Amino acid sequence: MQVPAPAPDPIAPDALLVEVAWEVCNQVGGIYTVIRSKVPATVQAWDDRYCLLGPYFANQAQGEFEPYDDQQMAALNDPFAGAVREMRKRGYDICLGIWLVTGRPRVVLINPFQAYPRLGQIKSDLWHHHTIPTPDTDDLLHQVVAFGDLAKTFLEILAAEVVPPQRLVAHFHEWMTGVAIPALRRDQVPLHLVFTTHATLLGRYLAMNDPNFYDHLMQVEWQAEARHFNIEPAVTMERAAAHGAHVFTTVSELTVRECIYLLDRIPDAVLPNGLNIERFVALHEFQNLHQQYKSKIHEFVMAHFFQSYSFDLDKTLYLFTSGRYEYHNKGFDLTLEALARLNYRLQQSGLEGQVVMFFITKRPFHSINPQVLQSRAILDEVQETCEAIERQVGERLFYAAAAGTDHRLPDLDALVDDYWKLRYRRTLQSWKTTNLPPVITHNLVDDATDDILNFVRRANLVNNQHDRVKIVYHPDFVSPTSPLFAMEYGQFVRGCHLGIFPSYYEPWGYTPLECVARGVPAITSDLSGFGDYVMETVPEHEAKGIYVVKRQEKSFEESAEELTEMLWQFVQLNRRERIMQRNNVESSAELYDWKNLRVHYDRAYQLALERQ
Ligand code: G6P
Ligand code: GLC
Repeated sequence: MQVPAPAPDPIAPDALLVEVAWEVCNQVGGIYTVIRSKVPATVQAWDDRYCLLGPYFANQAQGEFEPYDDQQMAALNDPFAGAVREMRKRGYDICLGIWLVTGRPRVVLINPFQAYPRLGQIKSDLWHHHTIPTPDTDDLLHQVVAFGDLAKTFLEILAAEVVPPQRLVAHFHEWMTGVAIPALRRDQVPLHLVFTTHATLLGRYLAMNDPNFYDHLMQVEWQAEARHFNIEPAVTMERAAAHGAHVFTTVSELTVRECIYLLDRIPDAVLPNGLNIERFVALHEFQNLHQQYKSKIHEFVMAHFFQSYSFDLDKTLYLFTSGRYEYHNKGFDLTLEALARLNYRLQQSGLEGQVVMFFITKRPFHSINPQVLQSRAILDEVQETCEAIERQVGERLFYAAAAGTDHRLPDLDALVDDYWKLRYRRTLQSWKTTNLPPVITHNLVDDATDDILNFVRRANLVNNQHDRVKIVYHPDFVSPTSPLFAMEYGQFVRGCHLGIFPSYYEPWGYTPLECVARGVPAITSDLSGFGDYVMETVPEHEAKGIYVVKRQEKSFEESAEELTEMLWQFVQLNRRERIMQRNNVESSAELYDWKNLRVHYDRAYQLALERQ
């Protein structure tokens, strides 16, 4: 159940808002989370003056989008429906409907491929009017420019439907939709344009390739670097959108710096990302969920490790990291280094218990490692056998109790059939092995050069029995259909004890916030937009379970030591302290609710309405 929010003040009651993003009804990465989680707060303020616009991809839209039928379309009496009807009259393939997510916003989807016959003209106009080059070989770029052209036509028609003094704000996310902005400006379409970049293209590439990226930022020659990385078309689109918008924004102060040096425009505002935080009425409910999902992780861990050796699950902590496989940018390198040091400290300390660390990311693989699958299957059989024995003993004990005369507990062993005893032994014998539990759950396409695997090989952090930090590298998303975890990502997060995300490059970074929203403490860094935001705006964030590793102007070595110390302190908390900390984390999560953060968007729209 959600706690009801106070009704917000109406923003510019005479204005309409269209929010344009590639990830509307089409999940690719983090922008999907931004748009989708923000819907309830946006709809609350803008109501039917709000509409989303995105590209139509049949497979993606299938489960998320419900188009209005012809009758509903004919009955609708507002500018959005009017513009869609007009587009259809002109022969365009376009639909209006509902995005089936909390808040149920209205959405216009346009199939980009219908503009392909005109690609030559679209590309030539981009070049002649805006000096934006588009190569012939990149289909994603073709989809982008095709959609940009169609979005422009739609907005032109929509602007004509709007009767002054009513005004129209069009908010574009990321260069992939921002490509429409220069042409809208050139043709002076009466719109108030906002552009938000969620990173800079060049920033991401440079950070991945230059260990001193932040020191060199001021000297970057954008065009030469864009050519070097072979991303000049997209970079030019990003710059054109940033320069063409009435209001230019980004997601964090860190990305502001990048925008200044790499895009040559100072953003007008920072729009931090939030979530739609769901709170339970009773505090203990989320704690129960932790316990419940932790037992599911226990099952995985038993299948994965106990085949080789066992340990006390009640004294085991589950740590994890997740995200796009960018070894350096996501701080996987720093995390591994700190884990190796933690392993050593734990071995030396005489402290009880161990840590299992999960790396959840996405890498090309051939299949799940058959051994891992088989072990899981045998453990399932062990479980079935135990349940059968339990039933048999239960029934016979009950009978013996009622029928007996001496009121003594019978010999339980004698109540089990030999068949089950043998089956129990056989299954366990075939399961136990002397091999070490594998670090990775899948067979990677490229095992030999994988950075995570190479680190654990080098550091000999390979799940030896004496290692107190165990590693599980799962190169695929966690999903309910996976035979290994069979849970949703959010459930997995709830079952863990701590998320570790000490990124080197991260314009915002939702992963720690997603932990906090579920009452799980998290580590972030001062080079991630979220970490930077927390340091600036949330006093005593450590008490609220958000730890920020300092990476600005720190060497790898210094940051690794700081992270090790954080982990070391964390593993020394007792259960009671962990429960209290989770309570604190959960109750501070509302700080990041869109109900509180939407105001930044509102201010950007106000500013856009003041500019023409
Ligand atoms: C939740 C449950 C408790 C359980 C605890 C375990 O708080 O409500 O019953 O004891 O989780 O916490 P831990 O941090 O050890 O997983
Ligand atoms: C980009 C950034 C990421 C951010 C997301 C949403 O993907 O890389 O840090 O969380 O956009 O703004």
